[in-house]
Amino acid sequence: MRHFLTLKDLSANELEALINRASELKKMQHKGEIYQPLKNKVLAMIFEKSSTRTRVSFESAMIQFGGGSIFLSPDDTQLGRGEPVEDSARVISSMVDAVMIRTFEHAKIETFAKYSSVPVINALTDDFHPCQLLADMQTYQEHRGSIKGKKVVWIGDGNNMCHSYINAAQQFGFELHIATPVGYEPKADIVSSVDATIALFNNPAEAAKDADLVVTDVWASMGQEEEQRKREEAFAEFQVNSDIMKLAAKDALFMHCLPAHRGEEVTADVIDGEQSVVWDEAENRLHAQKALLEFLCA
Ligand code: CP
Ligand code: NVA
Repeated sequence: MRHFLTLKDLSANELEALINRASELKKMQHKGEIYQPLKNKVLAMIFEKSSTRTRVSFESAMIQFGGGSIFLSPDDTQLGRGEPVEDSARVISSMVDAVMIRTFEHAKIETFAKYSSVPVINALTDDFHPCQLLADMQTYQEHRGSIKGKKVVWIGDGNNMCHSYINAAQQFGFELHIATPVGYEPKADIVSSVDATIALFNNPAEAAKDADLVVTDVWASMGQEEEQRKREEAFAEFQVNSDIMKLAAKDALFMHCLPAHRGEEVTADVIDGEQSVVWDEAENRLHAQKALLEFLCA
């Protein structure tokens, strides 16, 4: 049995195969082909934070694969009333075929996985968002071919998405530039845990030079709502705008996991412009997670 808590839970070869499979599943879906490898299988989906893309993509994936899913929120289950994670893991996993969790502390999903008898998928924690990276890597490959040896620039917060880009730099073999304000760098232990070329900057223009892919995310993540104002000030110089895109390679792509705030981390002309692939990136959540579910459960 395998879990998918970070990109490091799969080998580089397995990830490459998974991305290729995601593109194949996408073609099958677009042709209207019925493919149901998870008939009668059930995915439990625990959401302790909000979601649009993650919920719709996992739920649709299970329906299209011939199975079903159960949405569980802390508000109306015992999860929000203090039942130990270990107990919840043993009980829920005894009744379903896989569990998807979106939560706060990464340690919680690790504990759940330890006591789960079925595969556990990380659908975002405070530290990582590996499912989004599957979609991002699929999207890059579909537009530009292999990302191996390319230069990616992350501009903004050293957050869960940034940490997953750090893991991806190792697993997919690209060079990663990270530009953050002082004090908002990614966690040092995550940076030092990978075997990859990673450079940290406090100047977005320097970091963006000749990049093949420009990526950003919100300045205040879920759980940091009360820091919004303070972060708007700290990140003011870290907006992805046309000046930044001009410094990147001519054929650079722009990605954002969404939801986005036009006028904050990215200008409308960039996210709605020709270099932006955010809608493909969002759609690919469905196809990449189907490949993941097939890998873990079929
Ligand atoms: N990108 C992403 O995970 O979006 P949701 O929060 O809508 O699921
Ligand atoms: N960094 C963001 C990503 C949302 C998909 C957050 O954690 O809120």
